[in-house]
Amino acid sequence: MLLTLPDILSQEDLRKVHQALTKAPWTDGGESAGTQARAVKNNLQLPHDCAAAQTIRAHVLRGLDSSPRFFSAVLPLKVFTPRINRYAGETNAYGNHIDNAVRVLPGGQRVRTDVSCTVFLNDPTDYDGGELVVADTYGEHSVKLPAGHAVIYPGTSLHQVKPVTRGERLACFFWVQSMVRSDEHRRILFDLDMNLLALRQRHGETAESTALTGTYHNLLRQWADT
Ligand code: NI
Repeated sequence: MLLTLPDILSQEDLRKVHQALTKAPWTDGGESAGTQARAVKNNLQLPHDCAAAQTIRAHVLRGLDSSPRFFSAVLPLKVFTPRINRYAGETNAYGNHIDNAVRVLPGGQRVRTDVSCTVFLNDPTDYDGGELVVADTYGEHSVKLPAGHAVIYPGTSLHQVKPVTRGERLACFFWVQSMVRSDEHRRILFDLDMNLLALRQRHGETAESTALTGTYHNLLRQWADT
């Protein structure tokens, strides 16, 4: 499931993000990629522990935490430390690849990369190119969103970032291990949840919405690992 999440960052968040980026110690993005990905990865990223990365990460995680749609679509169990990257000039693209299935946090804890998330940190008018292209069984989807908006897609997807030919593209990206491993199962739960929400808005609580909420939780109980 590929899904966009508008306004994860407010204008005030974005102002602070850009302020933090004025002192950003960019490094070669190849360092954190697996062998296949490293061959096609050509961008810059921030070290996890630098002040700019910590500030931006805090804003992004707070924004996602307050998004019920993110929670419903991803059903997060563990989040791998969000990274901040920059595509511009000579370091301007990331060719087709699939992300490593498992990432290891500094403390040694493993995170399975069920869901990938990109939060766009600057506006599409700031740069040409730089589309995130995600392939699934329905073909290729090209994603380029306003600053502060996010996209999530299954970690199983082949994806790339097209070359940036003007300006710079700034984004925060990370992976989530979901309580529900299967993308198809997550999709069913998300559809059920969103339609229940709409039903309640239209009719209030009814015996049927209560029963279907039970069905939602019973499916989640079947499919979730905690
Ligand atoms: Ni990737």
